[in-house]
Amino acid sequence: AQTLTVLGLESSCDDTGAAIVHKRPDGTAEILSNVVIGQAELHAAFGGVVPELAARAHAEKIDIAVEQALSTAGMGLRDVDLIAVTAGPGLIGGVLSGVMCAKGLAAGAGLPLVGVNHLAGHALTPRLTNGLPFPYLMLLVSGGHCQFLIVEAVDRFSRLGGTIDDAPGEAFDKVARLLGLAQPGGPSVEGAARSGDAARFAFPRPLLDRPGCDLSFSGLKTAVLRTRDKLVADQHGLREADVAHLCAGFQAAVADVLAEKTRRAMLNYLSLTPERPALAVAGGVAANGALRSRLSQVADTAGAEFCAPPLNLCTDNAAMIAFAGLEAFGNGQRDGFDLSARPRWPL
Ligand code: KG4
Ligand code: ZN
Repeated sequence: AQTLTVLGLESSCDDTGAAIVHKRPDGTAEILSNVVIGQAELHAAFGGVVPELAARAHAEKIDIAVEQALSTAGMGLRDVDLIAVTAGPGLIGGVLSGVMCAKGLAAGAGLPLVGVNHLAGHALTPRLTNGLPFPYLMLLVSGGHCQFLIVEAVDRFSRLGGTIDDAPGEAFDKVARLLGLAQPGGPSVEGAARSGDAARFAFPRPLLDRPGCDLSFSGLKTAVLRTRDKLVADQHGLREADVAHLCAGFQAAVADVLAEKTRRAMLNYLSLTPERPALAVAGGVAANGALRSRLSQVADTAGAEFCAPPLNLCTDNAAMIAFAGLEAFGNGQRDGFDLSARPRWPL
């Protein structure tokens, strides 16, 4: 096996990323740098990511991210063997910025180019962090995604189910907005929930009565809205304790539904009789402590290893794209200068 150094680029949502990942001769990988330039302040006033603003910021920042990634790794472009870039799915303006930058670098330095599916980047992360062998079960939970995947190979993913409406991170963000808490909503809702009583308000457990692994979160958000409005009408305002109870109740409902659907996905996955059964999580919502402990219980009960990568590798980053590019390259994937940016690209 040869040593390979890859430069990865990520620009599909609101983080501009560049990373250098190195594959050692023994096949293990190492992150030499992982630069993320966020855009939170840029979108803060709008209550969500504004695609036009995101695209412009990616175009402005991607070269800077690349320079920082190279200098942190103590390298120049001449030390790089491969360029990997997120080619979708995502906000098309941002994806285009990354793909055009990658093509320019690859053409200028005469390097091979590999287009990576952003979701494959998330899904392959446990191989980078924990060296998980195929097949493993993955729950991808972020602000934009929610799905169960059996990761069978570098380029083979079986989808067992997913959300039919909002992603859980989106629901956390909306609930935070409803209750006047700071964005991103996940950490603020989790913080407020600590002093709340999850049983104070009864929220629905959507789709629990339906077989399969599909999920729904938009009704839950509406239930929080209704309860809030009733509290406001009855007592002319929201008390801090009410906010805590609402957050705790909402978070418990999300965790309950995700845990039960994960248990079902696990049964399906275990029927493949994997040699080293594992449940891995990725995406920003995987940072949630209440959710993590429920999921690790589900894994324990099933006799599976629970694998939660460090937070900076759960959220959007370029190291996962670099690593997925390495794996795809090892698998024979090569893209030409006709590589296109895809807004939609199911795994
Ligand atoms: O993966 P990510 O950085 O970006 C994408 O959505 O692709 O995930 C961001 C999402 C946000 O919706 C944020 O509120 C949520 O992850 N999040 C959390 C927590 N930390 C971040 N949700 C629940 N609990 C948390 N502790
Ligand atoms: Zn993502």
